[in-house]
Amino acid sequence: MDVLVIENLVKYFGGLIAVDHLNVSFSTGEIVGLIGPNGAGKTTLFNLITGTFSPDQGKIIYKGKDISGLKPHATCRRGIGRTFQVPRPFSSLKVFDNVLVACFPKSRSRAEAQEKSEELLRFVGLHEKKAVLAKHLTLVDRKALEMAKALASDPTLLLLDEVMAGLNEKEANDTISLINRIAGRKIGIVVIEHIFKVIIKITNRVIVLDHGKKIAEGDANSVMNDENVIKAYFGEDYAVA
Ligand SMILES: Nc1ncnc2c1ncn2[C@@H]1O[C@H](COP(=O)(O)OP(=O)(O)OP(=O)(O)O)[C@@H](O)[C@H]1O
Ligand SMILES: [Mg+2]
Repeated sequence: MDVLVIENLVKYFGGLIAVDHLNVSFSTGEIVGLIGPNGAGKTTLFNLITGTFSPDQGKIIYKGKDISGLKPHATCRRGIGRTFQVPRPFSSLKVFDNVLVACFPKSRSRAEAQEKSEELLRFVGLHEKKAVLAKHLTLVDRKALEMAKALASDPTLLLLDEVMAGLNEKEANDTISLINRIAGRKIGIVVIEHIFKVIIKITNRVIVLDHGKKIAEGDANSVMNDENVIKAYFGEDYAVA
């Protein structure tokens, strides 16, 4: 079932069109890769879906309702979770308290929020570090913390913005297995990712953006061999050669 349908979405920043008449949809239980060169509009699309920005045109339909223009707290409450390209934990709080804060909006009591925080920290593999201050975490652990926080809102759709960037191979593999476990919870996942090896391993479907437009969609291999995609990444000459 399509959990999110985007119709004819447009976003301008002054004279620059960052998202250009985009039509895409996402379902629960699938992992979709969102790729494209720097500045293609990937993060802007996440910011539109979550309500950080309002679209200039088009619709964002989540579970059958138009949510375009809703603010981030409202999209989060409805079940759209996200991580940020640059993680922003409360660095002077402990890992546990960072997750606890994220658990409050969906919990009926402090005890329930605490229990959920424990469960999420176990799920993402951070339970042993729950008393560590967030600022002392390594990069891979900061990314895991971001995912625990995003899961606190019980999302049906999770948007992951470059959670693998800067990780070594083992850390990336651990993160891939975590993403697969999240998908196993029947959550739709969209991953923005630059590393093709990762994209090929985890995605069911790939969408390629360039200058805000969808230029290709399909399985990882077919998209990577698509002439328009090669041109977008490597330039006109490369595709002709
Ligand atoms: N808040 C903003 N104000 C003005 N321009 C912006 C803003 N956010 C993004 N842009 C511009 O919109 C375009 C798309 O940016 P976006 O961050 O969505 O790209 P991206 O695909 O996520 O790139 P990257 O791979 O580098 O993260 C870029 O030209 C960028 O400079
Ligand atoms: Mg980005």
